[in-house]
Order: sequence, then structure tokens, then C-alpha cells
Amino acid sequence: MRAFTQPRSVASLSVVLVLFLWLERGSGSGTCPPPCACFGELVDCSRLRKGQIPDTIPDWTVQLDLSHNKLQVLDSSLFSNLQHLSEMKLNHNELEAIPDLGPYASNITTLILANNRITRISEKQLRPFLALETLDLSNNNIVEIKANSFPALPLKNMFLNNNRISSLETGCFTNLSDTLQVLRLNRNRLSTIPAKIFQLPNLQHLELSRNRVRRIEGLTFHGLHALHSLKMQRNGLSRLMDGAFWGLSNMEVLQLDYNNLTEVSKGWLYGLLTLQQLHLGHNAISRIRPDAWEFCQKLSELNLFSNHLSRLEESSFVGLSLLDELHIGNNHVSFIADGAFRGLSNLEMLDLQNNEISWTIEDMNGPFSALDKLKRLFLQGNQIRSVTKKSFSGLDALQHLDLSNNAIMSIQANAFSQMKNLQELRLNTSSLLCDCQLKWLPVWVAEQTFLPCVNASCAHPQMLKGRSVFAISQEDFVCDDFPKPQITVQPETQTALKGTNVTFVCSAASSSDSPMTFAWKKDNEVLNDAEIHNQAHLRVQGGTGGETEVTEYTTTLQLQNVEFSSEGKYQCVISNHFGSSYSTKARLTVNRPGNHSTFSFMGFQCNYLEYIINN
Ligand SMILES: *[C@@H]1O[C@H](CO)[C@@H](O)[C@H](O)[C@H]1NC(C)=O
Ligand SMILES: *[C@@H]1O[C@H](CO)[C@@H](O)[C@H](O)[C@H]1NC(C)=O
Ligand SMILES: *[C@@H]1O[C@H](CO)[C@@H](O)[C@H](O)[C@H]1NC(C)=O
Ligand SMILES: *[C@@H]1O[C@H](CO)[C@@H](O)[C@H](O)[C@H]1NC(C)=O
Ligand SMILES: *[C@@H]1O[C@H](CO)[C@@H](O)[C@H](O)[C@H]1NC(C)=O
Ligand SMILES: *[C@@H]1O[C@H](CO)[C@@H](O)[C@H](O)[C@H]1NC(C)=O
Ligand SMILES: *[C@@H]1O[C@H](CO)[C@@H](O)[C@H](O)[C@H]1NC(C)=O
Repeated sequence: MRAFTQPRSVASLSVVLVLFLWLERGSGSGTCPPPCACFGELVDCSRLRKGQIPDTIPDWTVQLDLSHNKLQVLDSSLFSNLQHLSEMKLNHNELEAIPDLGPYASNITTLILANNRITRISEKQLRPFLALETLDLSNNNIVEIKANSFPALPLKNMFLNNNRISSLETGCFTNLSDTLQVLRLNRNRLSTIPAKIFQLPNLQHLELSRNRVRRIEGLTFHGLHALHSLKMQRNGLSRLMDGAFWGLSNMEVLQLDYNNLTEVSKGWLYGLLTLQQLHLGHNAISRIRPDAWEFCQKLSELNLFSNHLSRLEESSFVGLSLLDELHIGNNHVSFIADGAFRGLSNLEMLDLQNNEISWTIEDMNGPFSALDKLKRLFLQGNQIRSVTKKSFSGLDALQHLDLSNNAIMSIQANAFSQMKNLQELRLNTSSLLCDCQLKWLPVWVAEQTFLPCVNASCAHPQMLKGRSVFAISQEDFVCDDFPKPQITVQPETQTALKGTNVTFVCSAASSSDSPMTFAWKKDNEVLNDAEIHNQAHLRVQGGTGGETEVTEYTTTLQLQNVEFSSEGKYQCVISNHFGSSYSTKARLTVNRPGNHSTFSFMGFQCNYLEYIINN
């Protein structure tokens, strides 16, 4: 009558032996009580209709499942002979208190009481469970944890997710301090965490996600020396005070996603000396302080996905020499300082997708050149319009490059060829300027041993508009015109006296009449309030096909009354519908008046040398 099915064919001696032992145990005082199902030492009396719960449970039972039964009370005599019972499942019932499980409750190691209607944790009700290691009270109606709630139990795992707990009384976990390893308090109503509430030197995993903790004071987690991971997602956290995580000297994983944090600073990272993974996705972080990582030099994964970062400074990642993965996708990054990635010598994955990156790729000289271990680079969904030979220089180990969803217009020959290990290239654009300079692309794609995912079609010239570059014959890539601006006059490096006026001049020509825009940058930053004068004039240019008229544009930057702070590298950026051209960078040196006759000469020499070095 026991509900197990006998094996049809006894294939090996070991099966016979196991079956024998199993029947032996089952032959104690009772067979599997109908309508329950039994398997080995498990008696499964779950999902029964009212009145179907058997009167006796066999005394060999080790695991008993009484879940999903709408039980409101339990008759403790049902368990009076279950001296082997070790695991008890009572989840999904209607119990209002921790039940009395008879004289052998002291043998139970696992007690599952999730999804009931229990309103409080009572020391008296828990006292008989002398061997309890796992207690699951998730999905009940507990509103607080008072001091003296727990007797001294060998509890290792305690699950209290999805209750209504809004307060933890000081000392409430004291009796569990020698044993507790995992504590889950997700989906409760905690709005503050009392300082030093967790005096649990053996706790390894603490989960506090989906509470209402807006602010973490210093020393809050003091007393958790063994903690490996802390989860605090979706709390609306906005303030982490200095030393918020101090004392977590063995922590490896900190998850703070979906909060309202606005900056990363060493103040709150203080003491996290062994941290390996920091998850800060979906916050409102706009600033990484210069020395933020001073304590976190073991970090191997940093996730800043979906925040408000607009600038990656030279200091943003200093000290992260062991970092392996860096996620900065879905931010507003447009500025990447020279050397922002310099120290990341172990980085293998860099995700910069869906930002506002343009000139980093178009104009910088090897922005990623320090990343010689980088294997995967994600740049899809940015504002990259041209790719040059310098864009990816130094990425010798790169295997996977994603440039899709950028309206790329031009790609210099050999832009990808130094990446000898490339295995995957993603690129889709319908904005290409299909002139003689792009002739190489279909040839290169065809030569690759891997199959690049390239969907590239032309926007210009008119004759090729909408055609895939792979469907155009080599002779049709011609340079009849030059719609993208070409710099014809570069700004000049100069030395000026403090207090005088300085002008920089820059010109570009284009055969297109598409409107031009002009910008000046100082040290890579756009000068928004500068005094700029622009002019257009026609120029006749002799070419192989006769004389053509082109429009030349000149932009002049006026700096009045220069200060020492005006010193720097100036550059013009001239753009139209077909792309942007970047001038060389001209240095301005400002000298003190009255001192110039000797020093301007030397200044000139220095600047001249620098000009040669930089260009
Ligand atoms: C259960 O408890 C009884 C008495 O408390 C003890 O003799 C017995 O060995 C225990 N059984 C198991 C399987 O721990
Ligand atoms: C610890 O447990 C003992 C009995 O097991 C109990 O009397 C005492 O109140 C508990 N202390 C705390 C602080 O919970
Ligand atoms: C996060 O901050 C914003 C603005 O300060 C606020 O509107 C929003 O409600 C906050 N979100 C949470 C979950 O606290
Ligand atoms: C790239 O392809 C995706 C879908 O495949 C499309 O939505 C997107 O508009 C394309 N981007 C460009 C720049 O063509
Ligand atoms: C290539 O891009 C064009 C236009 O952007 C689109 O219509 C076509 O479906 C794409 N082809 C593939 C294979 O993605
Ligand atoms: C600098 O320019 C301003 C405005 O054009 C002018 O008033 C001033 O005299 C100039 N200063 C010098 C030293 O030329
Ligand atoms: C010239 O400048 C140098 C350093 O900038 C300074 O030490 C020196 O005193 C100046 N001389 C005069 C005559 O102003």
C-alpha cells in the first residue's frame, strides 16, 4: 500500500540492496499512510483535502511534507512517535503560531513554515527545537523581532523574507550569534538598521533587499567579520555615511542596485579591503570621487550600469588594477579623459553601450591603449560617426567589438586590422560616405576568417544611397567630392602676455552645402561661452576633373584678457551632416608682463618643441 512503485527490472545488486534497506526501514510501525505518497524516507502528505490528513505517520519518517493543506492547528500527538523526523515542511498552511511538534521536535533540523499567518517569533514556541539549523518563516505576518525572540539554537539559516518587519530590537540575534550563517530579510519594512544590531560573527550572507532603508550610518554592520555578501537592492538608499560598511573585512560581494545613490566615495567604501564585486546598477550616480577606490583594490567586477555618469576622469578608476569587468552602459558619458582607463591593466570586459561617446573614438589617440588584456568592448548605441586608425590602437587582445547602432559615416582603412584576435565584429550603419576611402571595407570583411556581422549601406554619394557596401563594385568607390569637412588651416600654438587678447583661427572646406557647425575645445572640453566668429567664403579649387567651387569656412576664437588659467591646448571641431573634423591642438602659454623679453623666447622654443611632439 505504500505508494512507491517497485522497479520493474532489478538490474543490479546495488539496486536490490538499496531497496532492501529501504523496505527494512519502512517495515517499522507502519506503511505509507493513504492518501500520502512516500519515497525513501520522505512522507509526502501535501495538498490533501480537508479531513484527509492521516491519523498516524510511520515512525521511520525522516522528512514529512504537510504543505498546502490549509492547516490552522496541528495535533501534536500526530508526531509523538517520529523520533527520526529531521525535516518538516509546513509551508502554505494557515498556522498562526510556530506549532508544537511533540517530544521529538528536538531532532528536527529543518522547519519550513513559509506562507502561513504567523505574527510573531516566540522564544517559548521555538525552545523545543534544540537541533534546528534551518528555519523558514518567509511570507508570514511578523511585524517585529523583539529581543529575547530566540532561544539558544544551533540555527544556521534563517529566512524571514516578505513579512512586515519594521523593527529589530537590540540584542534580538544574540542567542544565534555562534551559529547563524545566512539571514534573509528581503521584502520587509525596515527603515532603519540600528547600529551594531548584527553581532553575528559567523554570518556569511545577509539579504536586506526591498526594505525602506534610506540611509546607512557608520558602523551599522560592525560585528559581521565573516560576511561574504550583502544584498541591499531596491531600498531607496540615498545616503551612505562614512564607514557605513566598516567592519566587513571579509566581504566579497556588495549589491546595491536599484537605489538612489549619487556618488561613489572612499568614505562609504572605507574598510572593504576584500571586496571583489560591487553592484551599483540603476542608481543616480553622477560622480566618482578621485580617491574612491583607495580601499577596494581587490575589486574584479564593477557594475555602474544605468546611472548618471557623464564624465570618466583620469582618476575615476585609479587603483583598480585587478578589475576584470567594468559596466558603464546606459549612462550619459560623453567625456573620457586621456588616461581614464590607464590603470586597468587586467580589464577583460568594458561595457560603454548607450552613452554619448563621439570624439573619444573619432579624435583621441588610442583612448583604450592601456587595455591590452581587453577581450570584449561594447560601444553600441553611442554617437560615433567616424572610426580612425587610432581609435582602437593597443587593443591587441580584443576578440569582440560591438559598434552597432552608431550612425557611422567613415571608417579609416586598417581601423580594425591591428586587432589580430578579433573573432566578432558588429557594425550596422546606413550612413556611410561611400567614397574612395571606404574601398577597403568590403575587401577586408571578405578576407576575415570569422564572419563579421556588418550591415553597412551608403548615404552618400546620391548614386549609391541605400546600397550595401558589399553590393558595390570597387570602381564605384570614387572621390569626386569631399562632403565631410577637411581642415585647411590649423590653429597655431602661441605665447601671450597675461592681460592681452589672443585669437585662434581654423578653417575647413567642404564640397557639400550642408550646414556647418563650429566648436572650440580647450583641453578636450567644449568651450560653451567662448567668443567665436564664423565666416564662409567660396574658393575655386583645381582638381583632376577641372575646377570646382568649394566653400571654405573659417572660425575664429577670441580670448580677451588672458589669465594664466587660459593656458592649455585649443582645438576647433567643424562638423556637418557628413561628420566632424578635428584640428590639431594648439597650445597657449601665458607669460607674466615685464618678464617677457627673455622668457617669451624660451617660451617659443618650448612651445615649438611641444608642438612637434604633440602633432
Ligand atoms: C532523536 O531523539 C532521540 C531522543 O531525544 C534520540 O535517542 C535519537 O537518537 C534521535 N534520533 C535521531 C535520528 O537523531
Ligand atoms: C537566550 O536563550 C535563553 C534560553 O535559551 C533565554 O532564556 C534568553 O532570554 C535568550 N536571550 C536572548 C537575549 O534572546
Ligand atoms: C530617488 O530620488 C528621486 C529624486 O531625488 C526621487 O524622486 C525618488 O522618489 C527617489 N526614489 C526612491 C526609491 O527613493
Ligand atoms: C541597427 O540595427 C538595428 C536593428 O537591427 C536597428 O534598429 C538600428 O536602427 C540600426 N542602426 C543603424 C544605425 O542603422
Ligand atoms: C541591414 O540594414 C537595413 C537598413 O538599415 C535593413 O533594412 C536590413 O534588414 C538589415 N539587414 C540585416 C541582415 O540586418
Ligand atoms: C581686447 O579686446 C577688447 C574687446 O575687443 C578691447 O576692448 C581691448 O582693448 C583689447 N585689448 C588689447 C590689449 O588689445
Ligand atoms: C620673471 O619671472 C620669474 C618666474 O616666472 C620670476 O622669478 C622673476 O622674478 C620675474 N622677473 C621679473 C623682472 O618680473
